[in-house]
Amino acid sequence: MNRAAYWDLYKPSSPHGTPPDPLPVGWTPYTGHGPGVELLAEPRTALELGSGEGREAAWLARSGVRVTGVDVSPVQVARARRWWAGVGGLDFVGEDVETYAARTDRVWDVVYSIWGAAWFCDPASLFPLVRRRLAPGGRFVFSHGETAPELYGPEILRHRADVAGVPRWCYPPQEWGARLKAAGFASAEVEVVPGPEGGRGTVVGVGWTGP
Ligand SMILES: C[S@@+](CC[C@H](N)C(=O)[O-])C[C@H]1O[C@@H](n2cnc3c(N)ncnc32)[C@H](O)[C@@H]1O
Repeated sequence: MNRAAYWDLYKPSSPHGTPPDPLPVGWTPYTGHGPGVELLAEPRTALELGSGEGREAAWLARSGVRVTGVDVSPVQVARARRWWAGVGGLDFVGEDVETYAARTDRVWDVVYSIWGAAWFCDPASLFPLVRRRLAPGGRFVFSHGETAPELYGPEILRHRADVAGVPRWCYPPQEWGARLKAAGFASAEVEVVPGPEGGRGTVVGVGWTGP
């Protein structure tokens, strides 16, 4: 599977232009809708899984958090590095999140993912790796698009006939909660945030390392 080839095509409309503003951390695609940065509980350090454009990572770094964004797509990483070169306390790693989490010995106060790599990796392998990368008392926060039951994962996503698709895992909240606990999280809370005025809902999950 060539994840990079697939994700290099993501957001092609803004590959090299002027940077947009950093974006306050939120979990839905609708700015200011649903829970926000409070879900991260004032971390000193954060790891974003599938950081893409890096707008939220830049916003978080500007607020004083030391942030690492990891993304499998060289195109996404190159653009994020270019856009946010002047932001202190922020770095981007170009690698598959599971490969990175398995090889690094760093730990973070929070690991988070905003419609990012968390639903493009098998939770059976990703979640235990994330759990090991969290400092004592740390938490994992992730979000993804609400999906019809017949599309629960793994399902292959495909944009173009000439580019191989990638698998995506979607589950209802209770299933995510069970998977977080199976991976060693002490407690978990997962809910669906309905979209505004008929917009798509977002599944938002939190796994805590301690009580
Ligand atoms: C739907 S995008 C969302 C990214 C970000 N929240 C944004 O809005 O720019 C998903 C991102 O996850 C990255 N990604 C997907 N699977 C990944 C993996 N296994 N390892 C690292 N990054 C991955 C993709 O390259 C892409 O940038």
